[in-house]
Amino acid sequence: MLIVSAPTKIILFGEHAVVYGYPAIAGALDIYVYTKIKKITEPTMIVRSREYNLEWKNGEPIPAELRPIIEGIVFTIERDFDINIRRAGIYIEIFSDAPPACGLGTSAAISVAFTTALLKHFDIRFDKDLVNKYAYEAEKISHGKPSGIDNTISVYGGLLKYSRGPPARIEQLKHISDLNMILVDTQIPKNTKKAVMMVSELKNKYRLLDDIMNTIGKLTEEAWKELKKGPNASLQRIGELMNINHGLLSAIGVSSGKIEEIVYFLRNNGALGSKLTGAGIGGFVLGIVDEKNMHKIRKLLTQKGCRYFISRINREGIQLLSELTE
Ligand code: PMV
Repeated sequence: MLIVSAPTKIILFGEHAVVYGYPAIAGALDIYVYTKIKKITEPTMIVRSREYNLEWKNGEPIPAELRPIIEGIVFTIERDFDINIRRAGIYIEIFSDAPPACGLGTSAAISVAFTTALLKHFDIRFDKDLVNKYAYEAEKISHGKPSGIDNTISVYGGLLKYSRGPPARIEQLKHISDLNMILVDTQIPKNTKKAVMMVSELKNKYRLLDDIMNTIGKLTEEAWKELKKGPNASLQRIGELMNINHGLLSAIGVSSGKIEEIVYFLRNNGALGSKLTGAGIGGFVLGIVDEKNMHKIRKLLTQKGCRYFISRINREGIQLLSELTE
């Protein structure tokens, strides 16, 4: 039996502007998605997802939630390597620390962990670029035209500065400063497609949004310069740049009352910076908080009944957790 983990992600700077060619910075979280794979005697393939509470066996209609990994990954690997995965006698289970479709890139992390488990199980050439390639195939089925940042960060870990292409430009940072991050759930579902469309409509109406996007691009570069200092980066500067980024995201219409409430709750309780992360409207609010204030903030959030995650930037990307023979 083999268990593989792949990290989820957070966007620290540059969301929305990245759609218009400016850079964005994403980080891998230590919130994981897992895939467990084992041999079974029946010559079939069974996939079980704990989060979606469903099970699929080869021959049955493929549920929408599993189409990306079955059609994008299994079909493609079978074709490329001339093997029959669906009749090989395997049981695969997927489970996660985070709920699905919550804006933390869980679908990409599932694809990454799932691909790795298959490549290892079938002793196919295992390298991270190959995993990234197949995970991206699944992302295309999930999201149409994804930027590719979610699968890339999940494969390699660390921090990435990403500009969409073609060709996409990716810079990776391995030497990372310790960011204590808190992710607070607005409990409002996010809709990335709708948020991107809203921004595009506003941008068509008011050309001045070009200047806002340009400013977001500049502050993202400024933040990257700071983050590149590794352990010597100024958390205060990173926090202030996050606050400016949030103000600009608010200006282009992707904040909401609930997001503002959480953003200011965090700042008023000592966060060094706070902003919406990802598409906005709903989803998560990201705060960076020093050790001294983290305990207080956690206690207050728990009292308010808010759901939150604590994480640092994860250096690792994919990890093989166990290779046991049963
Ligand atoms: O919330 P997410 O993880 O779907 O992030 C969306 C980021 C956007 O910049 C708004 C869209 C995109 O495709 O980059």
